[in-house]
Order: sequence, then structure tokens, then C-alpha cells
Amino acid sequence: MKKRINKSERKFQSAGRLQQSGQKPKHLNVRARSQWQWTWSKMGLSLSILSATILFLLHLFSDSIDLSRPSDVGLNHTINYYLKPEEGVKVGVWHTVPEHRWKEAQGKDLDWYEKALGDGSPIFIYLHGNRGNRSAPHRIGVVNILSAAGYHVLALDYRGFGDSTGEPTEDGLCTDVLYLYHWIKARSGNSLVCVWGHSLGSGVASTTAVKLLEQGKQFDGIILEGAFLNARMETNNLTEHPFTWFYWKFPYIQYFLFNPLKNKDLNLPTNENLQKIQTPLMLLHAEDDHLVPFASAQENYRIAKKAQNSDERVKLVRFDGSVGYLHNGLYKDPGLPNIIREFVQSLMA
Ligand SMILES: *[C@@H]1O[C@H](CO)[C@@H](O)[C@H](O)[C@H]1NC(C)=O
Ligand SMILES: *[C@@H]1O[C@H](CO)[C@@H](O)[C@H](O)[C@H]1NC(C)=O
Ligand SMILES: *[C@@H]1O[C@H](CO)[C@@H](O)[C@H](O)[C@H]1NC(C)=O
Repeated sequence: MKKRINKSERKFQSAGRLQQSGQKPKHLNVRARSQWQWTWSKMGLSLSILSATILFLLHLFSDSIDLSRPSDVGLNHTINYYLKPEEGVKVGVWHTVPEHRWKEAQGKDLDWYEKALGDGSPIFIYLHGNRGNRSAPHRIGVVNILSAAGYHVLALDYRGFGDSTGEPTEDGLCTDVLYLYHWIKARSGNSLVCVWGHSLGSGVASTTAVKLLEQGKQFDGIILEGAFLNARMETNNLTEHPFTWFYWKFPYIQYFLFNPLKNKDLNLPTNENLQKIQTPLMLLHAEDDHLVPFASAQENYRIAKKAQNSDERVKLVRFDGSVGYLHNGLYKDPGLPNIIREFVQSLMA
């Protein structure tokens, strides 16, 4: 250590001498190098300080949501817990009780929430789209509507999403939902158990519904919001895959909104599933949906109506394109709570 210091001192000294002598400095490169070294290390230091500061500020001001604390996003009658659909797979779930029970729910543990599932109120499994996790504002928006209408909501992050572990695959996603369904049924008595699938979740909902049928069971009602026909590009007759359009238009967004599912692995054939399903179905779609065209809803509607041979059991609710709901904003519609209530009441009739 000492040696090195001496060496660099000597370098500076000799550089100084060269300058004083006024000679055309033969060893100018020595002086230049040490100056550069100094500049670089100074810059390096400044950069480290700067990036540390930025990281610190980001940490201070980031609104990174802790999924284990749903009350942080205003869900004060919600509990977070984890299910294990398979060995090595842990899936995060939020259970929100009907809003009229919010006071009662304060400070309650999982045991209380599990018992609450059997209170006779309808239950919704909420299946979200392919970006982010269960805390996204438009998802909380739907949870709030369902809870205010007097229903339980169980919103899960499929494996590989949010804080859920495991590898996201089409089969894996459906396994998680089936597991949650049976977990609910073991606690819910005779309550209605419905599913709400948005975007990617609509494909998971319809595919899971068919898997349930194969087990001789079914959801009591299905709501599909912004549903595509099929996650395979060619069947949607789109120039772009419904989920790649966004990335193609805004490539930088892929950085921030990592999409865990590889598109090529996706099938989720809602159009084929609807030919098999005999469950009351409501399709919700905005005319101005920019990711999944409204025509997909019309085609799904046509298929389901034909399969169920009923105008009563299959509904398509169209949201005016001039309002600007696009793909995620239906929860903002003031008429939506009534639409949902009517649908659920029709299931009880
Ligand atoms: C979940 O999404 C929120 C944004 O809605 C984000 O702040 C948070 O870090 C995400 N958590 C995980 C574990 O992905
Ligand atoms: C808790 O949530 C309910 C339902 O959203 C709301 O009506 C109530 O005002 C909230 N209470 C508090 C103390 O945040
Ligand atoms: C695809 O869309 C175009 C124009 O929107 C239409 O003319 C064509 O018939 C469609 N093809 C299929 C297979 O649906």
C-alpha cells in the first residue's frame, strides 16, 4: 500500500518537474494519464454517489405495493394468503369480503375469512390480465364493485405473476384456478361461485370452465371482460397478437411491464370452449377496446348463444366507444354495478 502511494507521488512530482522545466515534455503522456485517471475516478465516484442517491430517492418515493398488505391500497376488508396448488408453487390470493362486513373484518385472521366464505353471499374468482399483479388499479376497481354489490372476491396472482412462485404456463395457470375453486367450494356451502376473467384471464376462465366440466362440475356464472377469441394470433384475424400489439406500439413498455407468459405457448381457446360451456355467461366489452377488438365479443357471443341455444343465458354488454374505456376501464362505468347485480340475481332465480 505504502509503496503504491509513493509511486504515484513520484509520478506527480516528475510531472511537476517536467512542467517547471518548460521542456517540450517527452513524458507528457504520464502526466496526462494520471490526470485522466484522476478524472475518471472522480467521475466514477460522482456516478456512484449519483446512482446511490437516485436509488435512495426511488426507494423513498416509489409506490411499490406490498402485496401482503392489501389495506395499503384501500382494501381494508381483505386478507392476503398463499395457496400451494402444487409442490413448489405458491400462489398469492386476496380475499375481499362483502363491503357491508368491512367493520367486522378489521383485524381478523384467515380463520375468520375462511368462515366468512360460508355466509351465503355469492363468490367471485377474479382472474386478471397478463401484465402486473392483483394490485393494479383497474383490478382493484372491479374488486370494489363486486364487494360493494355484496359479494366475496378472491383475486389470485397465477404462478409466475406478482409474488406467486413457479413457472407460468397455460396448464399451470388453469391448475391454480382449479385449485382455488375447490378450496373455495370446501368452505362456501351452497353459495354461488362465479368467475370473472379479464383479458388473458378470460381465456383462463373459459379454459378452466371446460376442465371443471370434465370433472362434472361448473361455475355458477361466468363474466368475461375484454375477451379474445383465442390466444393464437391467426384465429383472431389480427395483424398483431392481442398482447403483442401493445409492445409493438410501445416497445419500451416491455421493460417495465414484463410479460411472464411466452405468447407462443398460449392457446386458451375461448371460442372453442364456449361451444362446450352451458353456464350463464355475460360478455362485457368496450367498443373502443384497443387490444381485443369488439368483433371478438360479437363472435364469442354468437358462438355461446348458439351453443346454449338461449338469449337469456348469454348476454353481451357493449360499452360506448366514445367514453374511452378501452381495454381496462370498464370498472369506471356507473351502470356496471347494476349490470352485475342483475346478472347475479338471474343466477339465483
Ligand atoms: C405489484 O404491482 C405493483 C403495482 O401495481 C407494484 O408496485 C409491485 O411492486 C408489484 N409487486 C410484485 C411482487 O410484483
Ligand atoms: C373501509 O372500506 C370500506 C369499503 O370500501 C369503506 O366504506 C370504509 O370507509 C373504509 N374504512 C376505513 C376506515 O378506511
Ligand atoms: C379478417 O379480417 C378481414 C378484414 O377485417 C376480413 O376481410 C377477412 O374476411 C377476415 N378473415 C377471417 C378469416 O375472418
